Amino acid sequence: MKKAAMQKTETIEYTSTAKWLHWGMALAWLTSWGLGILAAHWRDELNPQHELTFLHKALASTLLFVIVARVAWRLKNRPPSLPESMSARMKRAAITGHVLLYIIALIALPLSGWYWSSVADKPILVAGLFLLPPLVDADPDLYDLAKYIHTWTSWFCGALVGGHLLAALKHHFIDKDNILTSMLPRIKRRAK
Ligand code: HEM
Ligand code: HEM
Repeated sequence: MKKAAMQKTETIEYTSTAKWLHWGMALAWLTSWGLGILAAHWRDELNPQHELTFLHKALASTLLFVIVARVAWRLKNRPPSLPESMSARMKRAAITGHVLLYIIALIALPLSGWYWSSVADKPILVAGLFLLPPLVDADPDLYDLAKYIHTWTSWFCGALVGGHLLAALKHHFIDKDNILTSMLPRIKRRAK
């Protein structure tokens, strides 16, 4: 009885730690993405001395550390269950989307940037504070491949995060379920 009541309250929202980790990383991720685009495509106008590249790498590389805490937290804390109104297929799609966000957007993408800078023999100053050691030895022959991997992974992830945002908005405005509010900062809200 007590367990059933607990499960009911557990389904309402993410814990505040999960929300801080989600929104903190989302902000760093989206800013890194924007800085990467500006650095690469407005090089002459906005990035003549590679200032934006420096900022991009300094911010994006912090994700490599925060993700360790996030995954550790996530493995010990279950998220709220998805609403009953979702079909089993939609639930599987939502979970797959989250797994892809973790593996590709939050782990593989920063790793690919680290790999690229390593083969290019360029430094990465994490948060502007300390140098990240190279992941592999410098190798000019691998430069184009590393650049290609990082660039295309970043565009794929842009689409993935765009889909994630649209899905969150659809749940809120069309399905009118509690998925978006479960991730928003705590406001006085009663369980239905
Ligand atoms: C250790 C982490 C990372 C390093 C070292 C790194 C490094 C770089 C470098 C050197 C560039 C080229 C910038 C220029 O041309 O001046 C770049 C481009 C880019 N990066 Fe990263 N990056 C990292 C993580 C990330 C992350 C986490 C994201 C996504 C949030 C991201 C998204 C992009 C994008 C969108 C571009 C532009 C791609 C294009 O040419 O269209 N990077 N990155
Ligand atoms: C653009 C604004 C964003 C909004 C409105 C948003 C919204 C949400 C919402 C409502 C959830 C709850 C679960 C669900 O979707 O079913 C969620 C979960 C999640 N979001 Fe976002 N998000 C945003 C950006 C991001 C970004 C940039 C990333 C990472 C690149 C991200 C990664 C995740 C992950 C991995 C989860 C799963 C959490 C878990 O259950 O462990 N989100 N997001």
